[in-house]
Amino acid sequence: MSDHKAEAATLASTTLEPIVLEPTAALTVEEVLSVHHWNDHLFSFKITRPASFRFRSGEFIMIGLQGDNGKPLLRAYSIASPSWAEEIEFLSIKVEDGPLTSKLQKIQPGDHIYLGRKPVGTLVTDALSPGKRLFLFGSGTGLAPFLSLIRDPDVYEAFEQVIVVHSVRTVADLAFREELESQLAGDPLVEDQALLQLTYVPTVTREDFHTTGRINTLIDNGRLFEGLKGEARLVPESDRVMLCGSMAMNKDIAAMLEGLGFVEGSNNKPADFVIERAFVG
Ligand SMILES: Cc1cc2nc3c(=O)[nH]c(=O)nc-3n(C[C@H](O)[C@H](O)[C@H](O)COP(=O)(O)OP(=O)(O)OC[C@H]3O[C@@H](n4cnc5c(N)ncnc54)[C@H](O)[C@@H]3O)c2cc1C
Ligand SMILES: NC(=O)c1ccc[n+]([C@@H]2O[C@H](COP(=O)([O-])OP(=O)(O)OC[C@H]3O[C@@H](n4cnc5c(N)ncnc54)[C@H](OP(=O)(O)O)[C@@H]3O)[C@@H](O)[C@H]2O)c1
Repeated sequence: MSDHKAEAATLASTTLEPIVLEPTAALTVEEVLSVHHWNDHLFSFKITRPASFRFRSGEFIMIGLQGDNGKPLLRAYSIASPSWAEEIEFLSIKVEDGPLTSKLQKIQPGDHIYLGRKPVGTLVTDALSPGKRLFLFGSGTGLAPFLSLIRDPDVYEAFEQVIVVHSVRTVADLAFREELESQLAGDPLVEDQALLQLTYVPTVTREDFHTTGRINTLIDNGRLFEGLKGEARLVPESDRVMLCGSMAMNKDIAAMLEGLGFVEGSNNKPADFVIERAFVG
């Protein structure tokens, strides 16, 4: 091969052609609309919503890109936007060397992404029996399904108070903090309800902050209940809880709830609390 041809071949192999994704029976292909990087290990993005796509606020779905073997590389993601939204939003971790997120973190507006056709999940109000206070306990990206629920007017119809608790290691991990601190000011549908009914409790466990300590600590020492109506403890008669975090957090808080008399619910059998893993591991 001549020097010129060799140079052209090298260039062709290093120039990235946009990968064209094809829809399948289980997946549609959507367009990335916007991307926001919160820090080195967290980002959020919005994609188009197909007209036929229906989901309940709080559910998760498979999303992905093309893997190195040419097949879809998919992972479960909680939908962070509410069921009425025109666009679909996600909050994502960036795992160093993670098969999907090492690629996903590089997406740009205009890129294409796979979206599953069948959303599922237990973090839905259908899986809870009626109550007065709804506590949403999330750690890390476990905030995502709660971002969906707190922007859904039905949640404020079903519960008098909605308390979203976000536990993270560092202040920079408090994604959507401003929006949550403002009680969703400017939200087209729930602004008025959120102002009266939504409480945001961020807690940072590995840096100084106004609130520190894991969620179970905030329950134990009563900090969680400051400013709320009702008792300064969790009561199974009128409180309902959704949990979304690491397996360790889910396990520890579920054990605490069961100790207090809370019964785990499901889509088929609504009860006092529901759980979903924010990730496996
Ligand atoms: C029901 C469900 C819902 C999920 N929703 C989300 C979501 O909304 N946002 C999101 O970023 N991820 C979510 N995940 C995790 C997601 O499916 C992937 O694991 C994640 O995108 C990393 O993919 P990966 O291929 O890069 O690495 P993987 O091989 O999938 O993961 C590698 C390791 O990274 C760690 N890890 C993975 N995900 C996370 C995370 N979210 N936070 C902290 N550590 C993590 C774990 O230790 C894991 O073993 C969810 C998982 C489940 C089961
Ligand atoms: N967030 C980061 O700064 C960061 C950066 C790079 C990589 N990662 C990697 O990402 C993975 C997950 O990190 P993450 O920060 O998203 O999630 P995480 O480790 O689950 O921590 C998120 C929050 O959950 C709390 N928590 C952990 N276990 C708990 C339990 N059993 N009960 C109650 N609360 C509990 C943590 O408190 P404690 O702080 O007390 O544990 C923290 O406030 C890890 O493998 C990590 O190495 C994280």
